Amino acid sequence: MILSGKARVAGVIGWPVAHSRSPRLHGYWLERHGIDGAYIPMAVPPGRLEQALRALPALGLRGVNVTLPHKEGTLAACDNVDSLARRIGAVNTVVVCDNGELSGFNTDAFGLIENLRQRSAWRATDGPAVILGAGGAARAACVALLDAGVGSIRIVNRTRQRAADLADAMSGPCAAVAWAEREEALEGAALVVNTTSLGMAGQPPLDLRLDSLPLKATVYDIVYVPLETRLLAGARARGNAVVDGLGMLLHQARPGFEAWFGTPVEVDEGLRDFLLQDLSNA
Ligand SMILES: NC(=O)c1ccc[n+]([C@@H]2O[C@H](COP(=O)([O-])OP(=O)(O)OC[C@H]3O[C@@H](n4cnc5c(N)ncnc54)[C@H](OP(=O)(O)O)[C@@H]3O)[C@@H](O)[C@H]2O)c1
Repeated sequence: MILSGKARVAGVIGWPVAHSRSPRLHGYWLERHGIDGAYIPMAVPPGRLEQALRALPALGLRGVNVTLPHKEGTLAACDNVDSLARRIGAVNTVVVCDNGELSGFNTDAFGLIENLRQRSAWRATDGPAVILGAGGAARAACVALLDAGVGSIRIVNRTRQRAADLADAMSGPCAAVAWAEREEALEGAALVVNTTSLGMAGQPPLDLRLDSLPLKATVYDIVYVPLETRLLAGARARGNAVVDGLGMLLHQARPGFEAWFGTPVEVDEGLRDFLLQDLSNA
């Protein structure tokens, strides 16, 4: 795509940023929709975040995605922060307003729930949910499931205090469960979401027997490298519905793209295949 002088420009800020899939993902949509625009990776070291964010309006950029380690710092630096991003405690999408102010959003909860809805028959009223983990992704998962109307969430984490802190912060029907009791926590659950890094390439597998999980429950692993983790393979083998994490990555990108480039976009099999090819070449 050859850019005109009026091209809209957005990008991703991170440190490091070279591993980010976002330029490929947004590049796919830009090309598919024939948009006069570009999405570029920007390596911003710690200590220069505020300077980088403040430069966006002056450079005429439409906004940025924000990845590690800048998500919390960006929340503090934005002029306006969406209430969802405040509840999650992190900003992953910045939109430059017409008046030059920076508005911060978090689209991880949206990505998580959209993917779950697109790829399973799960309904919030099906029953209790179990979230494994209590880090940033678990926070987004909690907010997403509570807002979807889940009536009870069990948060299971290796560091129990972190699970208790998350349950307290959510002011909803959330309870902390010790890691040693993770298998009992599956009893009667309608949904299990792994938000730990266990099972990801280069990390130990998630050690979790599924015997007490109802067969009608959905098992969702937000890890996407590999696409089918040991957790998902085990769940599929015993007859549970499974959802992988790739779609979360794809859906979370939609609101930013739509705000910056003014075109609604979809997540379909073509996009999944494109990103999968990209991941397998990495
Ligand atoms: N699909 C997507 O779009 C998407 C989006 C965001 C994140 N993710 C994935 O989600 C995962 C977590 O991300 P995050 O940002 O939430 O990370 P994080 O804030 O660092 O949290 C990591 C979580 O994993 C747990 N954990 C790590 N090692 C463990 C072990 N050996 N045994 C038991 N628990 C362990 C941690 O428990 P402690 O509290 O005890 O340390 C914590 O709950 C990553 O794999 C990331 O790639 C995917």
